[in-house]
Amino acid sequence: MAWCCFLCALLGLPIALILLVFALDSVGLWRPLNDRIMPYMNAHISKSYNKKMESVKQELFKDISKSSVDGKLTILEIGVGGGANFCFYPPGTEVICAEPNPHFDKFLKKSASIYPNVSIRDWLVTGAEQLPTLKDGSCDVVVCTLVLCGVKNIDMVIKETHRVLRPGGVFYILEHVAAPSGSWLLYLQRLITPFWSAVFCGCCLTRDPWQNIQDVGFTEVDIRHFSAPLNWLLIRPHIVGHARK
Ligand SMILES: C[S@@+](CC[C@H](N)C(=O)[O-])C[C@H]1O[C@@H](n2cnc3c(N)ncnc32)[C@H](O)[C@@H]1O
Repeated sequence: MAWCCFLCALLGLPIALILLVFALDSVGLWRPLNDRIMPYMNAHISKSYNKKMESVKQELFKDISKSSVDGKLTILEIGVGGGANFCFYPPGTEVICAEPNPHFDKFLKKSASIYPNVSIRDWLVTGAEQLPTLKDGSCDVVVCTLVLCGVKNIDMVIKETHRVLRPGGVFYILEHVAAPSGSWLLYLQRLITPFWSAVFCGCCLTRDPWQNIQDVGFTEVDIRHFSAPLNWLLIRPHIVGHARK
């Protein structure tokens, strides 16, 4: 009997939570609440993500300082969240943050205070689809990690990234993506995405921006698919690499 109650609670609780999320969403209350909760969830998730992905990120960013000009490096980080990549940037880095969720404020400030290698030059509280205050060719580097899964328009974000990079500037990307077509994991991702997306601020499990990046006109693209060493099967398929303007 006790086991039966335990099993019912185990199965019933997530279903009740999902129903609650959909109910709140239908009356427009979930998104504002989710925006407030997200920075706390992200702080927790990005800590364990960085631990598991440390070697991947170290390899990704190993040549980032080569993009600096006269010892100064200007990075635009889109969807910066709480600054989970600041520890990988070289001394003297100025970061322009494009982050539409203002509730990341205290997490971002905390990261900036922990990592003196980084100073925040500006915070644009906006999506990266349009960054009109940034001039063409004004950034040495653009960084994008775990962002394109949740943006409104991938093509606009990548075009804007390409526009603000100086010639020779580099776009660094690390994203979870759709599993290979025809795989059972892709079916599972398709099944789970509506719930996942409701809980994680619009994050979609079935996108793959690899082709969008190939098409925008970078002179050199070196981005590969790989299976990330993560516990969560659904987000193991990843892309990582860089593209040069
Ligand atoms: C999963 S978090 C990743 C945060 C951080 N990049 C990291 O690696 O930990 C996704 C971030 O993208 C931001 N975001 C959502 N839509 C965006 C958009 N259109 N442009 C830029 N950032 C966006 C979210 O607010 C959130 O901070």
